[in-house]
Amino acid sequence: MAPKIVILISGNGSNLQAIIDQVASGEIKAEISVVISNRTNAYGLTRASNASIPTEVFPLKPYKDAGKTRIEYDVDLAKKILTYKPDLIVLAGWMHILSAEFLQHFPENVINLHPALPGEFDGAHAIERAYQAFQEGKLTRTGVMVHKVIPAVDRGLPILTQEVPILPEDKLEDLEERIHLVEHKLLPLGIQKFLSELE
Ligand code: GRF
Repeated sequence: MAPKIVILISGNGSNLQAIIDQVASGEIKAEISVVISNRTNAYGLTRASNASIPTEVFPLKPYKDAGKTRIEYDVDLAKKILTYKPDLIVLAGWMHILSAEFLQHFPENVINLHPALPGEFDGAHAIERAYQAFQEGKLTRTGVMVHKVIPAVDRGLPILTQEVPILPEDKLEDLEERIHLVEHKLLPLGIQKFLSELE
């Protein structure tokens, strides 16, 4: 049976699309069980529906409104995902940090895409912060990594990394575009690598 992937998104889903395309072409030998978004209006939900992939929306707001904690949200999210019995959970632009209470259910099989190299620019706005460092003359490259997820944000074991140059004439938008192109290749490759190690 093909391994099962659950994909978590929060937005546009261009990386989700890259995965959908590689599953369709057979380069990724797996089935996408469901795409879960924390945001109702994430365009990635439309991409999933267009590919006849089931979707679920699981927002944090009702938890906050009911005075519940992030941990309660994470535990319920984990329970929901467990019903799909996934071999792999992919964070493809998922903008929530997952707590240890979530990860204890999936200690080895959550992977994340992060637009920076290991140990550099952990957390949000990584591309902007790399560009700022470039403008201050501190670096001429940043990068992309696919890594295993552990409770320390963006610090899990790297599966694949790729450097991305920052060119003297680059505007922030140029760098963002170059990074996204690399992401669309690296995340599917990282998934292939993870799955090949399961066999
Ligand atoms: C990517 O840049 C990813 O590295 C970051 O969020 C972005 C998601 O883009 N974590 P998309 O929704 O896949 O288009």
